[in-house]
Amino acid sequence: MAKIRVIFENGDPERVIEFDPAAAPFQHDGQPGSILDVLLGHGVHLEHACGGNCACTTCHVIVKQGYEKLAEASEQEEDLLDRAPGLTPRSRLGCQAVLQDADAEYVIVVPRFTINQVSEGRG
Ligand code: FES
Repeated sequence: MAKIRVIFENGDPERVIEFDPAAAPFQHDGQPGSILDVLLGHGVHLEHACGGNCACTTCHVIVKQGYEKLAEASEQEEDLLDRAPGLTPRSRLGCQAVLQDADAEYVIVVPRFTINQVSEGRG
């Protein structure tokens, strides 16, 4: 089983999800087995204005642990990330970053800016 700990910069309580990557997809938005797929499929909300189609930046997350175990980013994802507010070297789009390692422990941060951007209607 893989494990993902989700930290919300807006102060919402942390969540921990254990999941089997082989069981993906868990719902219908984003790449099967992506951060977005795993979170939504386990009742954890992550913004995804374009429906997980790699066309916005609202699903931007920072991968504090396990970054190197993710499937590589596509050129399209890299291009979009360049426009993400609060970009870091460990940033990924949640709908595109696939959690493929069955034994990995991931820690991700949902940036406050991502949340604000959406609530202010600029996403
Ligand atoms: S939800 Fe739009 S790029 Fe991920």
